[in-house]
Amino acid sequence: MARRAAGLWALGPLLWGCALALRGGMLYPRESPSRERKELGGLWKFRADFSENRRQGFEQQWYRAPLRESGPTLDMPVPSSFNDVGQDGRLRGFVGWVWYEREAVLPQRWTQDTHTRVVLRIGSAHYHAIVWVNGVHVAEHEGGHLPFEVDISKLVQARLTVQTAAGDVSDFYLLPVGIRTVAVTKNQFLINGKPFYFRGVNKHEDADIRGKGFDWPLLMKDLNLLRWLGANAFRTSHYPYAEEVMQLCDQYGVVVIDESPGVGIVLSQSYNNQSLQHHLEVMEELVRRDKNHPAVVMWSVANEPASSLGPAGYYFKTLIAHTKALDPSRPVTFVTNSKYDADLGAPYVDVICVNSYFSWYHDFGHLEVIQLQLATQFENWYKTYQKPIIQSEYGADAISGFHHDPPLMFSEEYQKSLLEQYHLVLDQKRKEYVVGELIWNFADFMTDQSTFRVLGNKKGIFTRQRQPKGAAFLLRERYWKLANETGCHPPAEKPQCLGKSHCTW
Ligand SMILES: *[C@@H]1O[C@H](CO)[C@@H](O)[C@H](O)[C@H]1NC(C)=O
Ligand SMILES: *[C@@H]1O[C@H](CO)[C@@H](O)[C@H](O)[C@H]1NC(C)=O
Repeated sequence: MARRAAGLWALGPLLWGCALALRGGMLYPRESPSRERKELGGLWKFRADFSENRRQGFEQQWYRAPLRESGPTLDMPVPSSFNDVGQDGRLRGFVGWVWYEREAVLPQRWTQDTHTRVVLRIGSAHYHAIVWVNGVHVAEHEGGHLPFEVDISKLVQARLTVQTAAGDVSDFYLLPVGIRTVAVTKNQFLINGKPFYFRGVNKHEDADIRGKGFDWPLLMKDLNLLRWLGANAFRTSHYPYAEEVMQLCDQYGVVVIDESPGVGIVLSQSYNNQSLQHHLEVMEELVRRDKNHPAVVMWSVANEPASSLGPAGYYFKTLIAHTKALDPSRPVTFVTNSKYDADLGAPYVDVICVNSYFSWYHDFGHLEVIQLQLATQFENWYKTYQKPIIQSEYGADAISGFHHDPPLMFSEEYQKSLLEQYHLVLDQKRKEYVVGELIWNFADFMTDQSTFRVLGNKKGIFTRQRQPKGAAFLLRERYWKLANETGCHPPAEKPQCLGKSHCTW
């Protein structure tokens, strides 16, 4: 392999503080009473050098200042292969120098106790790596796969004397904040006083092998796909997502409807007061955890409860009032699939979020019923409540690679045609009171088995492996058109300048 090829990185770096001098072999960093470790995995700033000779980074000395000052950077998960995370074809096959940067805050003891040895260890970096710490060249290593390390005690200890001159503060906590307002009128959803239209998806924390487990490369892939799609929002169906997800949504300006795990409240006894008490506590925990995330613009207390059952009225009245008391600054909703004239919870929500599966769970194959049924659905809800409406779920299963014309259920063509029928009505009603649409679902996901599941739920516009079906291209065209129409491009288009109040979407 060429000397300067830094094509694939699988970096597993960590910092390593210990009181003993290491000589000879290379031990795997293990904690002990005399040794501490600090993992440096997670999101790094990243920039590929696309210049003709791939040497611009050296010529301009990108290592001397924060990488973002050199030009646009991406967030790149470490460890991972940069080629596989994004939607940028140029990175897919990139060969040449790429730059990674990570700021690390070291424990005070490491930097103040000059007997502590601080070692930076890179588990693996393909192929040829050069390492700078605070702008100082500290190591160079050729060949991937194998670890290398360097003693950086002098560098980090010298620097600290300057930094701790600040005073007597004994505890530090950094909390990035963003400022924005959210309000609801009878037919609009306002963010910072401007009408906002949710061009969104419903997600699941789900992927092959990983299941629900949090994974940085998967999260970055999903955010990159949302940007590709032109989406500006998602709902955390049907439970709160990992905090790292929320943090990145703040940074990228992705709007979140934050949903509690209140899914499947379908039996009369589910509405007993003991359940309600628990639900109130869950909302307290959720609000306490997520209230500082500007990305969160609305709480959803439940998904598809049997809200036409007798005790539902008292239950949702209490639950929604409690959530509003916890956080008076955000609207509260729950996602319904009950009938407009039977829903006992709807009087208490700020926004009507309604799910429907016309021409999927009934009227199989009859795409022609959608326009009438959907328009009637919207009109009935609006006439009854005069509240803005979000189509919070709609969709059809499609098995990637199944084709049929005329469109038949489970073919990619059927999924696309069903979406098109929905969009015709959404385009009329969004001029009046419909304030958003969330496709079910972003990606295929695993479920329990049954006669209507084909190795899981196949309503994703992406497969479980995050590859697009035909419907993804349809939705992409639509979302970008809507973005162009409103002059509100997905802010994730410029991730390096986000997270501030100027992002009004
Ligand atoms: C829950 O408690 C309230 C207030 O005491 C009461 O009115 C209501 O009937 C109870 N609900 C159920 C389902 O027991
Ligand atoms: C949106 O606008 C951009 C820039 O003007 C243009 O390149 C793109 O084709 C437009 N997309 C759609 C779907 O209208």
